Amino acid sequence: MLKHVKNNFKIIDNIDMFKCPKCGESMNMSGDKSVVCYNKHNFDLSKTGYANLLLRSVKTEYNKYMFASRNIICRIGFFEPMINFISNIIIDIVHKNKLNSFKVLDVGCGEGSHLAQIINNILERTASNILGVGIDISKDGIQIASKNYPNVIWCVADLTRIPVLDNQFNTVMSILSPANYSEFNRIIADDGLIIKVVPGRAYLEELRRIFYNNTDKETYSNENIIKHFAGNFNILDIHRLFYNVKVNKENLGHLIKMTPLSWGATNNQIDYALNAGINNVTVDLSVIVGRMTKQSFIS
Ligand SMILES: C[S@@+](CC[C@H](N)C(=O)[O-])C[C@H]1O[C@@H](n2cnc3c(N)ncnc32)[C@H](O)[C@@H]1O
Repeated sequence: MLKHVKNNFKIIDNIDMFKCPKCGESMNMSGDKSVVCYNKHNFDLSKTGYANLLLRSVKTEYNKYMFASRNIICRIGFFEPMINFISNIIIDIVHKNKLNSFKVLDVGCGEGSHLAQIINNILERTASNILGVGIDISKDGIQIASKNYPNVIWCVADLTRIPVLDNQFNTVMSILSPANYSEFNRIIADDGLIIKVVPGRAYLEELRRIFYNNTDKETYSNENIIKHFAGNFNILDIHRLFYNVKVNKENLGHLIKMTPLSWGATNNQIDYALNAGINNVTVDLSVIVGRMTKQSFIS
């Protein structure tokens, strides 16, 4: 019995899906505290069971305070329509194809709530054996994910060098995160799906108006992201989710802390937003569903 890895035995059971981020060789367990590749490159496993597969530590503004707030916002159901929409897509595929097993990767998973909820929804409504893997470059995000959601494999890893072998996943998700389409194509199974969620024009517009008043960021368009996606994959569907969420002042504070939109704001603007009487915010998301083409890539 491995004592160190208390929570996440899934990583041990699925170690053969990983590859070394340094040399690309396959990985194995090394005692109970690390994983090692054929060329002896060693990576730590944490007590909560996540693997740190980064070649060097990375400083990022996505820190534990931001993710703690993001976790609270997720728990109030802010993203629930998006979670349900994606869960239903996967549940449909599992049912239609009578799949006994299914693997989902969430790239740029942050603090992990979306993936964990999607996995739970699928488990509740199918008898399939579902494996969820979440990767993020922010150690703070993965730490929170692995503490809260031990039934998923969590890794600190860079999406430009995803440490898994080719053709592994039935679905790759990229939710409000950067993408690397040649890597996504490499790791997805032959008829796999890619699900990308991007903000729409009105996403958090109540905050955008205050933080970017009279600048070129006051309005936003996802047109280029969709074009770029279409250059890489066959688009099967683009579904717009547009709704409002009521927020009290405390949750408004968490919303401001959890969104990169506030990174460009001054303290005065943040104070103003907190006291402007905002009690309803707009969620506008586009869920783009695509299939792999296995062709060349526009990076
Ligand atoms: C806006 S957050 C979205 C997080 C999560 N998907 C969500 O919706 O709550 C963007 C995420 O992308 C991650 N990210 C940025 N660059 C990355 C990279 N090169 N590799 C992996 N993750 C990255 C960040 O650490 C952050 O967690």
